[in-house]
Amino acid sequence: MAATFVNLFAIKSFNSPRLADLQTGSVHPRSLINHNRRVLVVKASESKNEWPIKKTQMSDAECEAAVVAGNAPFAPPVPPLPASPSGTPVVSPLPLSRRPRRNRRSPVFRAAFQETSLTPANFVYPLFIHEGEEDTPIGAMPGCYRLGWRHGLVEEVARARDVGVNSIVLFPKVPDALKSPTGDEAYNDNGLVPRTIRLLKDKYPDLIIYTDVALDPYSSDGHDGIVREDGVIMNDETVHQLCKQAVSQARAGADVVSPSDMMDGRIGAIRSALDAEGFSHVSIMSYTAKYASSFYGPFREALDSNPRFGDKKTYQMNPGNYREALIETREDESEGADILLVKPGLPYLDIIRLLRDNSSLPIAAYQVSGEYSMIKAGGVLKMIDEEKVMLESLMCLHRAGADIILTYFALQAARSLCGEKR
Ligand code: PBG
Repeated sequence: MAATFVNLFAIKSFNSPRLADLQTGSVHPRSLINHNRRVLVVKASESKNEWPIKKTQMSDAECEAAVVAGNAPFAPPVPPLPASPSGTPVVSPLPLSRRPRRNRRSPVFRAAFQETSLTPANFVYPLFIHEGEEDTPIGAMPGCYRLGWRHGLVEEVARARDVGVNSIVLFPKVPDALKSPTGDEAYNDNGLVPRTIRLLKDKYPDLIIYTDVALDPYSSDGHDGIVREDGVIMNDETVHQLCKQAVSQARAGADVVSPSDMMDGRIGAIRSALDAEGFSHVSIMSYTAKYASSFYGPFREALDSNPRFGDKKTYQMNPGNYREALIETREDESEGADILLVKPGLPYLDIIRLLRDNSSLPIAAYQVSGEYSMIKAGGVLKMIDEEKVMLESLMCLHRAGADIILTYFALQAARSLCGEKR
């Protein structure tokens, strides 16, 4: 059921039809809604009686005189109180000065007092790309594909733009033969990501392209940094590579580079490297609080980027830690980050709120692959309503303080918000 209500005051600003026509029911409010871009879903219910009432042709003075003379025209009585089921206890009302349910008692009230609203403009759509020409389904992420960078990707971006999603983030599946311990393919100006950025910018100049800055898709070890013989992830040497990667992406036309590697000091170093090469207009979205999470499993399958050994716990944060997120926040802010990201999303709402309350910068949340796949699986098994849970989870990320949300649901959710069927 589309529980929608037109806000009559909003309608009033349209020149035609007139408000009076709407109130008498001669124009259906739906005709005022642009279906492609319906954001606040609001529609008036049908009026039930014989509207409009026929005019008597009396003047205002005659109408007033009739009322004064006691001949008020008929208007329907207030309806009787609806009956309670038999057996309902008879009680005296609780002495409550505040009944919060009053403000929730109808769809119109609920829409009026809704504190958080999602729009497709809040979404960033993560897209997996590869060198092939076919789109390859990702087993662990139903509905997601490794997209051919010249075909499937371009079509998917067009579909997203159609429903108001105009920001994407690219994740490349790199051929094994191009992977190395130092991940040098990451800054090949003619590599998959820079090539794809140039193609998309040529076709859609106003598309906002975020890139991932980290070595794992390019590392033969599957780690985000260079691995020393004893297994230590080398910080400063990795940052050196990340700077080259970010500059290469900026050179291709990236709008926002997003370091997801969790090395220390990379934001400041990347900012300096970008500025030195003439890219002071390129933004940095820092993965500020990225946790060593098991919710990334499906993503690593998608990119075939599982660490060859060990885990990522020496650079990604411990899921048990809260205060530590503030240390990362202060560092990233002072090093010049433009956007701070928390990842994963739903299990880390407290961290999103922590950053929201401690920084004036925009906050991003990443609803990661595992979160996506759980909702998809629950939906397929008919254990939950996929569509409703999807929208609720995104709303909750927004309510917790995320301005933007990276989500594999971006297209599906935007279509749903626009009132389109899939
Ligand atoms: C790696 C990276 C990961 C994700 C985004 N960038 C995985 C990881 O850190 O192992 C995960 C995204 C997801 O699970 O959806 N730099």
